[in-house]
Amino acid sequence: MSRLPPMTVRLRLTLLYSALFLVSGVVLLVASYLVFRNAAVPNLIVVPGGSAHVTAAREAATQMKYQHVIRNSTDALHQGLLRSVIVLAGMTLVSIALGWLVAGRVLRPLREMTATTRHISERNLNERLALAGPRDELRELADTIDGLLARLETHVAEQQRFAANASHELRTPLALTQALLEVARDDPDRDDGELVERLHEVNARAIDLTEALLMLSRTDRESFTQEEVDLSLPAEEATETLLPLAEKRGVTIDTSGDPTPTHGSTALLLQLVTNLVHNAIVHNLPAGGTVWVRTGARPQGAELTVENTGEELSPQFVSTLTEPFLRGSERARTDHAGVGLGLAIVRSIVDAHEGILTLTPRHGGGLRVCVELPRGRES
Ligand SMILES: Nc1ncnc2c1ncn2[C@@H]1O[C@H](COP(=O)(O)OP(=O)(O)OP(=O)(O)O)[C@@H](O)[C@H]1O
Ligand SMILES: [Mg+2]
Repeated sequence: MSRLPPMTVRLRLTLLYSALFLVSGVVLLVASYLVFRNAAVPNLIVVPGGSAHVTAAREAATQMKYQHVIRNSTDALHQGLLRSVIVLAGMTLVSIALGWLVAGRVLRPLREMTATTRHISERNLNERLALAGPRDELRELADTIDGLLARLETHVAEQQRFAANASHELRTPLALTQALLEVARDDPDRDDGELVERLHEVNARAIDLTEALLMLSRTDRESFTQEEVDLSLPAEEATETLLPLAEKRGVTIDTSGDPTPTHGSTALLLQLVTNLVHNAIVHNLPAGGTVWVRTGARPQGAELTVENTGEELSPQFVSTLTEPFLRGSERARTDHAGVGLGLAIVRSIVDAHEGILTLTPRHGGGLRVCVELPRGRES
């Protein structure tokens, strides 16, 4: 069985060009043939007159001449037609060759793009197609692929940083446990109670960290059931749960909330408000701090703002806070040893709900966190 060449775009374009050329050539040829055929036939006008005998003889001679002329002109026409067909066949071959060249030229950027894209992997994601030339459809495609590569590169870098940080953070409690156990082994007279207490503390921290990591991967990956939620309810619940902590730290919580319909996961939204209010309490002034928790329906969606007093923060510092494992320097001075995932979880929950998270430093110190979520159905 003979194998046909693969129907590449180049081949298809070539065939299309040549077919178009051939069809227009044939149409032109047929049209000119018809025109010439009609035009080439001379009219025979016989002028009556003279005797009947003479007239008959003249007419016969004229008819003969006329037939001869007709035959000659038809022969010439057919000759011309044959030559034109040969020229058309030759030109069609030329048009196939030209079409092949032109199609190759037009498609060259596409071939370059394919070659470059083929050898880009996660190792050289920094490479770009960077197609030069006019702003046409191919350039647009190349720019779109470059945009995709840029987003992928950022995402992969973020993931790698995250994995490195997570491993580092998980190693810390394990290393601490190891050190405590070694000390205990080398000193049999040591107080076991103290050791157990320290080990318990370290272990609890490791569990917190693992749970936060699990939470983060769940919100990043899992699709959750969407339901109609009144955002003011999880806000109220989170505030109530955290009230004892606020009292312990001398922080006042001021809550106000109208019904704020949105849709999403109640559990995740509760986690979101809890993280924000928890932050607002623990990263507050050492004494006499205030936290404001507000919810409200806005024309563009459901809005939650959590604001707190605290130390002065720079906009640059605030813009980095949602990075996983990033903790403010004041952590060393407070007794809250967070794992630095609270805001990363908040960001991923907001993303999963297609919302917008905005962090702004408060005038006079502290932070204002605003979460805008899609508007739910009014009940
Ligand atoms: N409401 C806030 N006011 C001031 N600083 C804040 C506030 N919320 C967060 N921060 C700063 O951002 C950092 C990151 O917050 P994040 O919640 O991600 O981690 P964390 O609170 O340190 O630990 P955890 O994972 O236990 O929440 C904090 O360490 C703190 O410096
Ligand atoms: Mg936190």
